[in-house]
Amino acid sequence: MFEHRVGFVSPLDGLNLNQIAPGRRDGSISEILADVLLREVIGAAEYHIDLHAGDLEELLLPFAGYALTGRPTSTGWVRPSRAPTRRASFPSHSRRDDPALVPTALLPLTSHLLPLACCPVPFCSMIAHRATTFTESVIREMTRIANQHEAINLAQGFPDFPMPAPMKDAACAAIRGDINQYAITWGSPALRLAIAEKYRRWYGMEVDPDREITVTCGATEAMAATFLALVDPGDEVIILEPYYENYGPDAILADARPVFVPLEPPRWTLEPDRLRRAFGPRTKAIIVNTPHNPTGRVLSRDELSLIASLCIEHDAWAFTDEIYEHIRYTGTHHSLASWPGMRERTVTISGLSKTFSCTGWRLGYAIAPPPAANAIRKVHDFLTVGAPAPLQAAAAVGMAFDAAYYNHLVRDYQERRDIMTSALTEAGFRFSVPDGAYYVLADFSALSDMADEEFAKWMTRDVGVATVPGSSFYHDPALGSRLVRFAFCKKTATLEEAARRLASLPARV
Ligand SMILES: Cc1ncc(COP(=O)(O)O)c(C=O)c1O
Repeated sequence: MFEHRVGFVSPLDGLNLNQIAPGRRDGSISEILADVLLREVIGAAEYHIDLHAGDLEELLLPFAGYALTGRPTSTGWVRPSRAPTRRASFPSHSRRDDPALVPTALLPLTSHLLPLACCPVPFCSMIAHRATTFTESVIREMTRIANQHEAINLAQGFPDFPMPAPMKDAACAAIRGDINQYAITWGSPALRLAIAEKYRRWYGMEVDPDREITVTCGATEAMAATFLALVDPGDEVIILEPYYENYGPDAILADARPVFVPLEPPRWTLEPDRLRRAFGPRTKAIIVNTPHNPTGRVLSRDELSLIASLCIEHDAWAFTDEIYEHIRYTGTHHSLASWPGMRERTVTISGLSKTFSCTGWRLGYAIAPPPAANAIRKVHDFLTVGAPAPLQAAAAVGMAFDAAYYNHLVRDYQERRDIMTSALTEAGFRFSVPDGAYYVLADFSALSDMADEEFAKWMTRDVGVATVPGSSFYHDPALGSRLVRFAFCKKTATLEEAARRLASLPARV
């Protein structure tokens, strides 16, 4: 016999269907809620409920409402006393405000929760509201589905080819040389020096390695620590959309309010008036990701100048994400911090994952003016203490590579891009050829009427090529419902096999 507590919120309190079930338009509210609750919150693979419509809402809204709002308003005790079942019948007269009936009516439903009942404390109140307002990364979920179906994984942006050998050797040497204890929290002196030297060489920027650089666990941590250090609850942060999916949770974790500005298809350009209108008295920062994931856009000098002038006019920060700075086919990479008046209001974020094909090393950095760097260093210290010491030693070796390395990197990526884009054209996708980064965001309207998630799962299963559904790059999933993203950071042999599989796609849809 188990005993556990469940939380209730008042039905429909704060419910926004679009947030609970992005992109879901089919079925009644109750059906969608039941489905979301049982599949996604409780994790039931299949279920069947015989229930009168009114009761369904009575019973499921509290749970779904909790899943969305994370705010239980009262608690009740439930004693599941029989084995888990997938089939449940609820009496038509059950009411939430009838203390005698509620526990009884909830019994079959709570049997789905039995694994949670092993927890000695109430499970609902154990989860903070902020963690209930975003879901697991869709990209990593697609990787799992790809593995399940042995599909070629063009979903997650990690290379399937090796990183540079001299860096691997340097990492092994560092471990054998006993560089295995904590590095200085904000980064080993050698790596910070190498980063400063690189910025002087490439972008003509003088960076103080002692006061302005924080080495982090990837650009991911650099961005999250920057949000936590510089953004107050209620501040607005402008995000260009479609956007790399981490920025949404970053904003939520900092209690910030994201303000979305579209990059306009088909060329994913920035419309100056829309950007101007997004800036206001509460604007604290704008995130500037160029080269851009998922569109491959490299922002032009004019677009960056407009961003710079608006940041200065509104006294706002620019948090740049320049992780793809060296993967460019056309256009020049401009670092926004080098604009007049921007150095003191820019946090420049980048990392090693993409440039050195080592996404598993988890090394990135933030460059910020000293007062901001101090704040970022404090957050970073208490989040992670520091990035891995032996890998920092090896990273300094990579940061010193000369132009030949970067030219080679671009040549190889150009070849991969060309294989990918011709395969997608042949298969019937429509897209704008990327100027940089290693993604193609492709419209599949000419191929199928399915929604993006269904289409991506179907492609993984039936065509053997995994992609990311476009809706995961938009705050309103409907905006991405005709798009999927392909990552081409793969060996040419992998891409050629993907091209062969994609060639069969038109005949299968
Ligand atoms: C735009 C962007 N920023 C950051 C990251 C993650 O970088 P890191 O591996 O350094 O955390 C990615 C990874 O896909 C990305 O696309």
